[in-house]
Amino acid sequence: MTELPVRVAVLVSGGGTNLQVLLESLRESPVARVARVISNRPDAPALQRAQRANIPTTVLRDPSDANELLAALGDAHLVVLAGYLKLVPGAVVSRFRGRMINIHPALLPEFGGPGMYGPRVHEAVLASGARESGATVHFVDEQFDRGAIIAQERVPVMKGDTPETLAARVLEAEHRLLPRVVLDLARRMS
Ligand code: GRF
Repeated sequence: MTELPVRVAVLVSGGGTNLQVLLESLRESPVARVARVISNRPDAPALQRAQRANIPTTVLRDPSDANELLAALGDAHLVVLAGYLKLVPGAVVSRFRGRMINIHPALLPEFGGPGMYGPRVHEAVLASGARESGATVHFVDEQFDRGAIIAQERVPVMKGDTPETLAARVLEAEHRLLPRVVLDLARRMS
């Protein structure tokens, strides 16, 4: 049993639109709160979103250092990878097994794995001729994008789609899916 609100730590490397959705949807929530934001990049725009919301931030010196990441996570109950591009050290995965999740911009298990991030994902989906794509939230394990799938939201691949137009449609689905999964997991933890 975890006392409410569940403390959520968010790991980011980029722009932070998924973080922004979590900040807004959990701001008044009695179930879960964004307690800290951690990045491997000091210039990640996502950090400014956290600072504007008065959420403590940490920039990792060495993302492969398990002790540094565990210290940064502190008393977090639930960890969310939202555009975090580094592999999480095994000792951290073990400590947070079953309460660390990642969002990926495709329908895993396809179009995932090492190097599959950003436009490359959508280029691969379009090149495959797939009629659908979407967003996946899954538990994090020792490999990129291989943990058990928790939830997915599907979107159509439209005639004339470019990697940019498909990415935009998938990102909208991510912004609907991620807060829903976080709140659901937090309720189950309490
Ligand atoms: C998202 O598409 C997410 O699925 C992927 O990285 C992107 C991050 O976007 N892992 P943002 O930084 O949340 O805007």
